Amino acid sequence: MRGTRLRGLPVNAFETPPIAEEILRIAAKGDGVTASGRYAWGVAPGDILLPDGTVQPGPHHVTPPCRHFGQCGGCQLQQLDEESLANFVEARVANASSSQELGAEAFAPPHLSPPFSRRRASLRAESSGGRVVIGFREAKSHRLVEVTECHVMLPEFTALLAPLRKLLIKLGQGQAEPKGRRGAKGKHNHARMAADIEFAMTEQGVDLCIKGLKAEGLAATELLLDFARDNGLARIVLDQGYGPEAVWEPEPVTVRLGAVSVPLPPGAFLQATLDGEAALVGAACEWLEGAANVADLFAGLGTFALALAGQGSRVLAVEAARDAHLACKSAAERGLVPVFAMHRDLFRNPLMGAELDKFDAVVLDPPRAGAREQVERLVDSKVGRIVYISCNPSSWSRDAAMLVDAGYRLVEVRPVGQFRWSTHVELASYFIRDQ
Ligand SMILES: C[S@@+](CC[C@H](N)C(=O)[O-])C[C@H]1O[C@@H](n2cnc3c(N)ncnc32)[C@H](O)[C@@H]1O
Repeated sequence: MRGTRLRGLPVNAFETPPIAEEILRIAAKGDGVTASGRYAWGVAPGDILLPDGTVQPGPHHVTPPCRHFGQCGGCQLQQLDEESLANFVEARVANASSSQELGAEAFAPPHLSPPFSRRRASLRAESSGGRVVIGFREAKSHRLVEVTECHVMLPEFTALLAPLRKLLIKLGQGQAEPKGRRGAKGKHNHARMAADIEFAMTEQGVDLCIKGLKAEGLAATELLLDFARDNGLARIVLDQGYGPEAVWEPEPVTVRLGAVSVPLPPGAFLQATLDGEAALVGAACEWLEGAANVADLFAGLGTFALALAGQGSRVLAVEAARDAHLACKSAAERGLVPVFAMHRDLFRNPLMGAELDKFDAVVLDPPRAGAREQVERLVDSKVGRIVYISCNPSSWSRDAAMLVDAGYRLVEVRPVGQFRWSTHVELASYFIRDQ
């Protein structure tokens, strides 16, 4: 493959580079970088960027497993072998840590989720002229890539794409524009359709949520019910613009968290893979073993709260999304586990000093923006142990710097790559302040 120009490989071309250069590392957005600061996409560390902009693949460059790679915007890093993918995940977290001089005392090897393990996925469906495309957007474009294979999400989701496409075509025919507006030859004029498709794997099977699809009338309902039965779905939820409504759910849909089955509200947050969840929850449980009272902030359905309660902690689970909060509350009550659910917006109304001082430990798992307002309160509290789970190393390092400045030690960091082959990196971290 010497000197081949790799598929879709834009190379910085402000001036003709005089020499061949090695790709040294992969930057945060997935481009490879040379020592002189030249960038190239689709490359691996050890590849050689030749003066004419072509690339000679090196020992860490593998053939991307998916036929859509390079076009589909879902994955950026399928050309990396396992070692350089792990190095990328680790470096993202290590760089965030060192940029704020957090002084991590231990850095665990990264956990990477395997292929075909994503248990929730969001795709887009669009039609025009009776043809329906279901897929992911191209990188930096509105164009949809029709997905016929995916090496990231569970195979059960991919297997549903062809039957779902047929269903959407039939539903489109049912919603065809009125006779007077039909084409000149009297053919069906299919209504244009654009919908968001969300899959989640539950204890009962696949949960399918379709947002933005108009499916009115008995015939449309029958098509949906036949589809659900024929494909063994756990649930179909439609959101036609008035909020989610289950049109098929033969038994209540749940996910297993700790030792409890928790009702899954449509679209509720779930950790992206089961093994990723196990890595994050395992870290929190290990670090907080023996903690009597724990606050789980940004608790969602209670992923951490229910697991910690299972090892003997009493846990306050605080969450702003009402449906997730109610699901956590009812599961804890039915399962008789010591989790007390609180509905509260922690950006506007963080837990304050006296409230925090009741807890031996706090778990934080905020959205990408981080938890600045809550951390500003934590630094003035008496809380001795903090587990901070993050889906954004940048906001994490900003918040972590506040903790370190206030006297907490960053005892351990564990990078987690749940979003395999993407530049999205997560981590678990553990802070202690000696009282
Ligand atoms: C990364 S998810 C983590 C959820 C949960 N810890 C889990 O592992 O399943 C972040 C959670 O924070 C919640 N959230 C977002 N903004 C919030 C706010 N201002 N106050 C409280 N919770 C919020 C979201 O609804 C979501 O459930």
